[in-house]
Amino acid sequence: MLTLHTIAELRAELGQARRAGRRIGLVPTMGALHAGHRSLIRAARGQCEVVVVSIFVNPTQFGPAEDFERYPRPLEKDLDACRAEGVDVAFCPSVEEVYPAGEVTRVTVSRLTEVLCGPCRPGHFEGVTTVVAKLINMVQPDVMYLGQKDAQQAVVLGRMVRDLRLPVDVVVCPTVREPDGLALSSRNAYLDAAQRRQATSLYAALTAARERIERGERDSAVLVEGMRRRIEGAGPCVIEYISIVDAEDLSARSRLSGRCLMALAVRIGATRLIDNVVLDVPECAR
Ligand code: PAJ
Repeated sequence: MLTLHTIAELRAELGQARRAGRRIGLVPTMGALHAGHRSLIRAARGQCEVVVVSIFVNPTQFGPAEDFERYPRPLEKDLDACRAEGVDVAFCPSVEEVYPAGEVTRVTVSRLTEVLCGPCRPGHFEGVTTVVAKLINMVQPDVMYLGQKDAQQAVVLGRMVRDLRLPVDVVVCPTVREPDGLALSSRNAYLDAAQRRQATSLYAALTAARERIERGERDSAVLVEGMRRRIEGAGPCVIEYISIVDAEDLSARSRLSGRCLMALAVRIGATRLIDNVVLDVPECAR
C-alpha cells in the first residue's frame, strides 16, 4: 500500500492506472476507521481494481463549537486497517494541500442542505461538498463509496455529482451496526457506559416506527411522536430533530408513501448521534 500526502504524488500514481483503463474506487473518510468504513472499502475492493481511501479530518465541515480539535486521529491504526483491507493508496493530505493559502472557493448545494442536519450545523454541508468535490478532482475516481449512516450527506453528494456533471458513480452502502443496533460512529467513543446503553434508543425507536408502518400506520406526526417518547424515555437527551421525509428530495412527508427516510439527530451529553432508516412504503393505508 502506498501512503501519499500530496496531489502531485497522487496524480503520478493514479495517472498510470487510469491510462491502463483500471477502475478506480474512492472511499472518502475522516479516519478513526471502524467496521462501517471497512464495509465501504470492501465494497470498493470487490468492484474496483484500484482502491483509494482518503483520510482527512476536514476543518471546514466542523462548526466553531464542534469537535474538530478532539476528533480522533489514530493514523497508524488507520493505515494498518487499510493495509488489512487491501487498499492500494491511502491519501492523507495536509490541510494546506486541500485548502491552499488564500483560497476563497466553496461548493454549495441548496435546498437539500436546508433540512434535517442543515439548520443544526450551519456551514457543515458546504464543508462536506467542498472537500468531496476537491477529493473527486484529485483522485478522479470511477466510483465513490458512501455510507447510508449519513443519509443526508449521501443525498447531497449524489445531487452535487449529478448537478456538476462529475464523471463518477456514487454507491451508497448499508449502515453497519453494533449487535444492539447502535450505528457505528467514530463519535460513539465519546459516550460513557450509561450513555452508551441509552444510545440504543435511537435505533430501537426507528425500528419500532418501522414496525408500526408495516402494521399500517401512515401518519408521520404519530410516528414521530412515538419515536420522541421512546428516545426521551431512555434518559436525558436533547432531540435536535426526528423527521420523515422523501428519501430522494428530502421534502417533508405528512402521510407516508413511496420511498421514505426516517432520520433523527439526538445529543446525549456532549455527543451528537444520528441515525436513519429508509423504507419503501406501499400506497395501501389503514
Ligand atoms: P466519516 O464520518 O469518516 O465517514 C466516512 C464514510 O463512512 C461516510 O460515507 C460515512 O457515511 C461512512 N460511514 C460512517 N459510519 C458508517 C456506518 N456505521 N455504516 C456504514 N457507513 C458508515 O462522512 C465523512 O467522514 C465526511 O463527511 C467525508 C465524506 C469524508 C467528507 O469529509
